[in-house]
Amino acid sequence: MILLNGKETAQGILRELSASVASAGCRPPGLAVILAGEDPASQIYVRAKERACGEVGIVPVSFTLPAATPQSELLALIRDCNTRQDIDGILLQLPLPLGIEPETCLLAIDPGKDVDGFHPENVGRCSLGLPGFMPCTPAGVLELLRRYQLSPSGKKAVVVGRSNIVGKPLASLLYRQGVDATVTICHSKTQGLARECCEADFLFVAMGRPEIITADMVKEGVVVVDIGISRTADGLRGDVDFASVSLKARAITPVPGGAGPMTIAMLMQNTVQAWKKRMNI
Ligand code: GUN
Repeated sequence: MILLNGKETAQGILRELSASVASAGCRPPGLAVILAGEDPASQIYVRAKERACGEVGIVPVSFTLPAATPQSELLALIRDCNTRQDIDGILLQLPLPLGIEPETCLLAIDPGKDVDGFHPENVGRCSLGLPGFMPCTPAGVLELLRRYQLSPSGKKAVVVGRSNIVGKPLASLLYRQGVDATVTICHSKTQGLARECCEADFLFVAMGRPEIITADMVKEGVVVVDIGISRTADGLRGDVDFASVSLKARAITPVPGGAGPMTIAMLMQNTVQAWKKRMNI
């Protein structure tokens, strides 16, 4: 069984990015990191992203807003970041506090600085196979498979979860030309989830329900990517019952240390991409 080590792979990517930033001979990339509200998970993610910026040589420009911030104030901050010359990328951490519409805020981000790939223009570009910012979690998952030389080309891929930031864009990247998987999308209303999962050569799970995928739901030799992470009484758990599923899998990601660090590495990669474009490198 191959353990798909996202932590180590991500560290390698950060080192590569750091070398390209250090050798550029111009101002460093700048990433606006906007956290609105006090969601504890978001606070942890944002800290991890700021730490990764430090490893790459990206300057994080952090904004922490109280949960009661009016939407108009957040929009004004985003517009300011859009015009600032020292900011190449804008990260608006989700979820936003109640009373703030995520669609309105994401739409306000300059698509050329939308390093999360959440702006509808980049969502459309990704879906059409045009150049643009790819959403970080799906891009990180594909990059992890690529670096382990596990190609889903021609294979049956099952994506469990249909969120805008993971399930939908992951499915769309998997069936595009060059990746070439045959894709099934399952979700909370799917009848016969176990039957669908058992068909998968590549199984991607992003439901946010701890250990819902058990060994009886996968076939021998499957490649499993677990994108869920939940805090349980027993600690952090993925959507996959690792102990039993890893006995049948050809390759599997751990939680934590799988898809999560790869997401952050892709955010850094998108930020460097945005900076290079603006610097004409
Ligand atoms: N919330 C959960 N995942 C993400 C992510 O990848 N980016 C942002 N901005 N917010 C998130």
